[in-house]
Parts: sequence; C-alpha cells; structure tokens
Amino acid sequence: MTADPVRRAVALFRSTYGVDPAAAASAPGRVNLIGEHTDYSLGFVLPVALDLATYVATAPSGVPSGHGKLRIYSEFRKEMREWNAAEIGALTPARHWTDYPIGVAQELLRAGFAIEPANLLIRSTVPEGSGLSSSAALEVSAALAFLAGRALDPLSLARLCQRAERNFVGMPCGIMDQYISVFGREHSAVEIDCRSLGHRFVELPAGITFVAVNTMVKHALAGSAYKERVAECAAAVAGIRERFPEVESLRDVSPEQLESAAPSLPAVVARRARHVVTEDARVGRFVEASARGDVALMGKLLVESHRSLQHDYEVSCAELDFLVDTALAIDGVYGSRMTGGGFGGCTVTMLRPDAVARFGEGMARAYQRQFQATPQIYACRPSAGAGEVKDGEEF
Ligand code: GLA
Repeated sequence: MTADPVRRAVALFRSTYGVDPAAAASAPGRVNLIGEHTDYSLGFVLPVALDLATYVATAPSGVPSGHGKLRIYSEFRKEMREWNAAEIGALTPARHWTDYPIGVAQELLRAGFAIEPANLLIRSTVPEGSGLSSSAALEVSAALAFLAGRALDPLSLARLCQRAERNFVGMPCGIMDQYISVFGREHSAVEIDCRSLGHRFVELPAGITFVAVNTMVKHALAGSAYKERVAECAAAVAGIRERFPEVESLRDVSPEQLESAAPSLPAVVARRARHVVTEDARVGRFVEASARGDVALMGKLLVESHRSLQHDYEVSCAELDFLVDTALAIDGVYGSRMTGGGFGGCTVTMLRPDAVARFGEGMARAYQRQFQATPQIYACRPSAGAGEVKDGEEF
C-alpha cells in the first residue's frame, strides 16, 4: 500500500468530520488471471490483488457528541449517510452503495462484534463497475474499519464479507473476490481452492506482464445472469448426481463423467457444466505452464478460457469479445480473456512488457473507432492484501 492514497483519505476525513481519523484500513481490488465462474462450484481460481484499493478512514463518534450515529461518507458518490448505530442490526437492504458496508456491519453483529457509533470515510482507486471487484474491496476495508483493531482471522474476515454480499446485497457470489482482497501478495498470483479454502502463491514467469482493459460498460443483465448461472450449475449437479451420486459440486466432475452424463442434461445446462469442468482443468494447466515458463501455453489457455466463457457459459458481450480479438492481433500479446463476472467490465491480457505502450495505443484507437468510448487501461501489479494502517505508521 502506498502512503499517498491514505494521506488523501486522511485529509478528506479531516475536512469532512473536522477531526483526525483514529485509524485507516485498505483492501485491494483484483484481476482474475484464470478460473472464471468456478468459485461457486468450489473449483479453482487464480486472481492477483491489484494496487488499486479502497481506503476507509475512521474515528469513534462517541455519545453524546455523535448522538450514537454511524456515519459513512463516500468520496466517489459525494454522499453522506447516517444511521443510529444501535439500529444497524434491523436495517433492510436499500439497493444503494451503503448496502455493502451495512451488510458487513450486520454480519459482524451476528459474529458477536458490537458496531459502535463512528464516522467513516471511503475513498477508492478501484474503478466501480469495472469487474475489478470494487465491491469486495469496499466490504473488506469497511469490515476492518468497523473492527477497529479487534481481531478476526483472515479467512473468517473473507467469509464474513462474502456472507454480507450474499445475505444483504443479494448476490450469490463465490469466495474469490473477498479472499484475494484479504490474502493478496506482492509479486504473486494466488491459486485458491474454493472448497478447502486453502491457497498457494504462484510466482509468474519473468518476461510477461498483465494489463486490464476496461470496456467502460456494465450491462444491466449482469446481476440476473449471474444468479441464473449459479442455478444452472446447481441443475447440472442434480442431473449428474443421478448417474454419479458421489458428485457434490461441479468441482467433483471429471471430463469423462460429464461426457457420459451430458446427453441426459438440458443442452444449455450441459454447456454451462462443460465450461466449469474445462475451466477448472485450465487453472491447473496454467499454473503448471507458469512454473515451466511456458508462456505460449499460458496465453493459449487464456484464449481457451475466453472462448469457453463466450460460447459455453455465455457471460461475455460484444465489447469484451472485441477487446479480446483486437488484443490477439497485436504483436507481443500472448493471450487475452474477459475477467470477472462478465457482461462488461475488463479483459485481462498477457503480453511482453515491451509491448505495453503499443498495445495501449492500439487498443484505445480500435475501441474508440468501434464503440466511441475510451477504454481505461490498468497495469496489473500483484499487490498485498488488506490491512489496517495505524496512525503514525503511514500517515
Ligand atoms: C464475480 C463474483 C465472484 C466470481 C466471479 C466470476 O466477481 O463475485 O465470486 O464468481 O464473478 O468468476
């Protein structure tokens, strides 16, 4: 974490609340290299935490000066909201950005942590709606701010934030985004086993780099289609279990089992399952190729992943496909795919470091011509996970 965004959050806290914050926390966004839409089938994913993060500065507001209120100010929304801290547990979702921190506060209450009157300030460098997981960055940084130094082990923190999103926000998400935001590590990708919830750090070979390109769109379909895919995976498991009762999630299904069960499944459900089963295998192959420095195979697996998401899982869109196809025609690019939930957001492209500048120009020009919009481009620097920043240490 760099001190500069923290300092800006602190300065903004002072000008908003008229006092110094007592603490600040940060949590990063992520880009997923491979293993898309596999986490809620308890499979494998390979994200990296980014140096784009959400910062939350906080101070107790106390009674009577704070009248027992919890206040949250969002720099991005230029909006202040407040509640009686004592009533947080009874709130219902408002379909508003505050559902993320309030959902987290409710899960903390459920886990036995009191939510004290406090002032919070949120500032983020994770672009919203970009598929780089601004939601998890907000959940995890808000959780650390609410905890205000009280201990919660990292895995419980990630799981609590996932529950907040599932129970309060209403998105039946997997564990990937919250997990990588907590467990991210500098210079490493993190291979997460979404069943055991263990991980290993994966060092990427020298001579390659990753860049995210933002379509600047998020189609309205994203939320409902995500829920549909979760349901289709459950339907696939139910169908496959008739033949293979030992199967508990798509994670357990071998390519041979899928082949023998597929004819008895609805065609769409069989295609969804094929994506998950092949994608899980691709994660393992990608990690092995990375260990061997086989950058050509890594690139090929990225493209296979995209085609599977495009045709079998059907979560891509014209803008993402265009960015992938354009990237693949640029010299120095090894592979490219959509990343995150889909229906907009970003692609991730693996390329030679010396090709980055040319890539950025070529992509911007082509995208502008096709969609009359300027795609934002982010270098993906694998960064550390969430943490508290104590007064005096960094600000
Ligand atoms: C979203 C969800 C994750 C994961 C991805 C797709 O980011 O929050 O849990 O399912 O989509 O891989």
